[in-house]
Amino acid sequence: MPDTATAFPPATKKDPSRTMSAAAAAACNQIVDPDVYANPDALDAAFAKLRREDPVAWCEPDDFRPFWALTKHADIMEISRQNKLFTNGEREMLSYSTAEERVYEQTGGPHLLKTLVQLDDPMHYKLRHLTQEWFMPHNVKKREDAIRTIAKEFVDRMEDMGGECDFQHDIALYYPLRVIMQILGVPVDDEPMMLKLTQEIFGAQDPDLMRDKDLLGDGDANKGLSSIQETLAQFFMYFTGITADRRASPKDDVSTIIANGTVDGEPIGQLEAMSYYIIVAAAGHDTTSASTGGGLLGMLRSPGQLKKMMDDPKGMSRTAVDEAIRWTTPVKHFMRTAQEDYELRGRKILEGESLLLCYPSGNRDEEVFDDPFEFRVDRSPNKIISFGYGGHMCLGMHLARLEMQAVYEELFSRVKLIELAGEPSFIRANFVSGPKSIPVRYKF
Ligand code: HEM
Repeated sequence: MPDTATAFPPATKKDPSRTMSAAAAAACNQIVDPDVYANPDALDAAFAKLRREDPVAWCEPDDFRPFWALTKHADIMEISRQNKLFTNGEREMLSYSTAEERVYEQTGGPHLLKTLVQLDDPMHYKLRHLTQEWFMPHNVKKREDAIRTIAKEFVDRMEDMGGECDFQHDIALYYPLRVIMQILGVPVDDEPMMLKLTQEIFGAQDPDLMRDKDLLGDGDANKGLSSIQETLAQFFMYFTGITADRRASPKDDVSTIIANGTVDGEPIGQLEAMSYYIIVAAAGHDTTSASTGGGLLGMLRSPGQLKKMMDDPKGMSRTAVDEAIRWTTPVKHFMRTAQEDYELRGRKILEGESLLLCYPSGNRDEEVFDDPFEFRVDRSPNKIISFGYGGHMCLGMHLARLEMQAVYEELFSRVKLIELAGEPSFIRANFVSGPKSIPVRYKF
């Protein structure tokens, strides 16, 4: 085990004299706080303040290592497209500094896994290349009939539930799960377990989604980390079985590509393969369910927009889906680390400092979007930053769009009336989150 004193990275503040602006001091604890992510209006207000007063803000929040928060659309793109200069490997997402310290103690590095989002080129490129073709539009399109069949099953289920359901919990949560599990070749019977495991990873800060409720209390990062490790161990066990199976009898699924993948002529390592399954399973599910529910909620709160959608579901679905993904912005951030000094909007970012790419803020940037706080099913153009940009841009974005189009077309061409039947609630998590509950009443 490496010596903690030398293994843990130094605080990412390279200029000791640097201080926070008044805007950053007011907003920085909010933009890392999972509770604020469960209250979208409070989050919007914190980001709007930063965009207005300090768009490249030096932040030193409690319990996290410091970083620059980028809240403007153009700046997020400028940094995201320069993958050599701004890398993922050192710190790809926010994590409590005590938890980071524990990971360093245990692994000698910053990560428990080696997923695409934690890697840089050349390894990132080589691994991404294995499945990239599979996720291109022409290949995803081959799955369209299968996806539409699943969409129909879920809308049938909604109809069968009578006139009321929790759209998020009963429909939006399970539909993308079924799609991604079919693509991975995971049998339907194993889906509840997969759902639980992916939620434990992404919703690890929400008391309803945690493995063990006693683990709440962000002060105790040790317990939180052990909980994530237990979840990962279960994932590993499950996908080790899948790997053996797909090596012995290849099928037409993404697991077969991962299990038999090679890099530089050698089979990919066990940790790389496990990490690959996990990123596809986890990234391919909660993100899409959040934006499917979030988009419906946007429409339910703007009856004029709902009517437009119901009047022409097929004509509207493409733009409505992107608006749902902008509106919800399920992935709240990724991070990059500067490899060289760099100037952005007159601020001097120093080599080794981290940058937080605040996607929900980029998606509300008044300089890019007209009336950014309005949900418009026909918004066009719609330069969403929800899928990121550059070399790490979302691998599954064409799949996510197709899935959402299929379910919106099915739902809105059949439902005659749909309205909110109670107050929605939101997941408490600062990385991937969206609605937790959307009670609706409806007539088919
Ligand atoms: C609305 C749904 C989705 C949203 C908003 C979303 C968002 C994102 C974002 C923001 C990134 C990082 C981009 C960057 O760093 O520049 C990403 C990466 C990724 N996404 Fe998605 N995603 C969605 C759906 C999916 C689906 C359905 C899959 C299924 C395969 C998927 C798989 C991945 C993978 C594997 C990566 C890592 C790519 C890399 O680092 O090279 N995502 N996604």
